[in-house]
Amino acid sequence: MDFSIRTHTCNDLRENNIGEKVVLNGWVDNRRDLGGVIFIDMRDRYGITQVVFEPTYNKESHEISKKLRSEYVISIEGTVRKRPEGTENSLLATGNVDVMVDKLIILNDAETPPFQIKDDIDVSEELRLKYRYLDLRRNRMQKNLILRHKFYQIIRKYFDSNSFIEIETPVLMKSTPEGARDFLVPSRLHKGSFYALPQSPQTYKQLLMVSGYDRYFQIVKCFRDEDLRADRQPEFTQIDVEMSFVNEEIIYSMVEGLMKQLFKELKGVDLELPIKRLTYEEAMENYGSDKPDLRFGMEMKTLNSAVEKSEFRVFKDTLENGGIITSLLAKGCGDYTRNQLDVLTEYAKKLGAGGLIWMRVKEDGLEAPIAKFLTDDEKQSIINILSAEVGDLVLIVSGQKYKALNIMGNLRLEMARRLELLKNSSTDKLVWVTQFPLFEWDDETQRYYAMHHPFTSPQDKDVEFLESDPSKVHAKAYDLVMNGNEIAGGSLRIFNSKLQAKMFKALGISDEEANEKFGFLMNAFKYGAPPHGGIAFGLDRMVMLFAGETSIRDLIAFPKTTSGLSLMDESPSLVSDEQLRELHIKHRR
Ligand code: AMO
Repeated sequence: MDFSIRTHTCNDLRENNIGEKVVLNGWVDNRRDLGGVIFIDMRDRYGITQVVFEPTYNKESHEISKKLRSEYVISIEGTVRKRPEGTENSLLATGNVDVMVDKLIILNDAETPPFQIKDDIDVSEELRLKYRYLDLRRNRMQKNLILRHKFYQIIRKYFDSNSFIEIETPVLMKSTPEGARDFLVPSRLHKGSFYALPQSPQTYKQLLMVSGYDRYFQIVKCFRDEDLRADRQPEFTQIDVEMSFVNEEIIYSMVEGLMKQLFKELKGVDLELPIKRLTYEEAMENYGSDKPDLRFGMEMKTLNSAVEKSEFRVFKDTLENGGIITSLLAKGCGDYTRNQLDVLTEYAKKLGAGGLIWMRVKEDGLEAPIAKFLTDDEKQSIINILSAEVGDLVLIVSGQKYKALNIMGNLRLEMARRLELLKNSSTDKLVWVTQFPLFEWDDETQRYYAMHHPFTSPQDKDVEFLESDPSKVHAKAYDLVMNGNEIAGGSLRIFNSKLQAKMFKALGISDEEANEKFGFLMNAFKYGAPPHGGIAFGLDRMVMLFAGETSIRDLIAFPKTTSGLSLMDESPSLVSDEQLRELHIKHRR
C-alpha cells in the first residue's frame, strides 16, 4: 500500500462510492473504541470521514489501530460501505458512509496537542499563536485561509481582465516616512546606512506611472511600526492599485467593479451600485467618524441653529468660539437611571468631553438639569430637529468641532452596542468617504501633517490656500468604508513638481529635506509624468469582514500579537555579536 496514491480526500465519499476500494490520508481527529470495534474520524483540510477497524474484518489493521491517538498521521486502504441504519451523521458531508479498513499505516505519531483541534474551544489566543500550526488545523482557521485564497484569485482575475499588470516593487527601500514609523534594515555593505521596509509601495507605483505602465496592481506586504490593534498588524497586505489618465470617478467605478465581483462570488450577493458617497464633512457631522458604520441609522444632528441665541453659557461659549453643538437621539432610553447616565457621562469624559448633556423627552417637554437654561422655543427646536418622541433620551456634546463630533461618534457606536442595534443586521454597508481635508493639525508638534500622504493632490479650487490657510484645503482623497471599517484609501496625486514643492513647504519640509527624501520622485516628475491616482485596500481587513471575524489576526496565517511578537518562533529575538559587528551596530545591553 502506498499513501501517495490517495484516491479521495476526507470529504469526498458519498453513497455512490459504496463498494469502492479507496486510499485516504489524514489525521486522527477522534477515536472511539466501542467494545472491540474502533472508529476513527479521519481529518484532512477537506473534511472528515469515519473509518472502521473490526477484528473480524481485518485482524491485523485492527491490532495496529489500537495504538492510534489524536493527531497521529495515518494512511488507510479500505472499502466504502453504507453506514448501518441509525448510525448516519447528518452533520458530515460523508456521514452516510464509512470505510472498512483493510490496511493501516501509521505515518507519524503525535504528542497530545495543547488544545483540541476543533472549533469553539475555550483557549487563550496566546496558546493558539504559540502553536499556530495546530491552530491552523482547525476548521474555522482553514475556512478563513481558504477564503483569503479565493480573494487573491478573484482580485488577480479582475485586474488582469481590466488590463492591469501586476508588478513587484522592492521590499528593501529608502526610508521615506509616510505617516507611520519605518522598520529599518541595517546595511552590511554600507556602514551606517539603512534600508526601510515599505509602509506601502506608494512612491514606486507613482514612478511606474511615469514609466507608462498605466494600470498597475500588486498584492503586496506593507510594514508599519505603529501601535497595534485588532485591525492592525505590523506587516499586513494591501491590494495596491494605480492608474494614469484618470479622475476620481474612474477609480470609484474600477473599485466598485471589484467589490461587486467579490460580493457575488464569495457571498452570492448582488451588490447595489454605485456605492453611496458621503463627504468627509457629512460623515463627521452625521456619524462623528470618517469611517461611519451605516448598518444602523441613529444619525447625529447639529443643534447650532436651535440654540444660536441661547444664553446658556456652555452653548454660548461654544458658538462664540466657532464650535459645534452636536446631539444624538437614543430611542426609548428616556428611562435611563441617573446611574446609567453617569456611566455614559464618564464614557464621554474619558473620550475628552468636558461633559455630557442629557435630556429626557416627557409628555410636557424636555426634562433635564439644563432645561431651565433653555427657552420653550429652543427646547421645541431640539425636539423637532431630532424628531424626538416621548420616552426618548437626547444626548448633547458641545465643543471644538471635530473633537465634539468624534466624541459623539463614539457615543453613537456605544449606544448602538447597548441597544443591540447590530444584532440582527446581516446586510453589509459600504460607503465612500470623499473630499478629506488635505492636512491635519497636530497640537503637540504645532505643525500640519498630510492627512493621507504628501503626494495627495489638493482640490483645484483650494490650491490658492496652500500657503495662506492650509486648514481650508481639501484633498482629492477618498476612503472606502465597510461596516464602520476603513477597507481602502487612496487619492489623485500631485504630478507636477512645482505643486509638489508647494505641498512640502506647507508641511514644513524644507527644500533640502524634500530633495533628500523625495528627490528621486520629484526628478522623475520632470520627465513627463502623466496625471495619475490610485487606491490601496487593506486585504486582511476586507477578508476579516467577509469572514465575519473581528480580528485580522484570524485571517493571517502567522500573525504577531498586539505587542508585535511572534509567539511561535519568538521573534523579535536577540542576534549574535558577530551578526551585529557585521552590520556595524553596537548594542547596549
Ligand atoms: P493607507 O495608509 O490608507 O493608504 O492604507 C490602505 C489600507 O491599508 C489598510 N491598513 C492596514 N491594515 C492592517 N494593518 C495596518 N497596520 C494597516 N494600515 C493600513 C487599511 C487602509 O485603508 N499608499 C496609500 C494608498 C494610496 O494612496 O493609493 C496607503 O497606503 O485598510
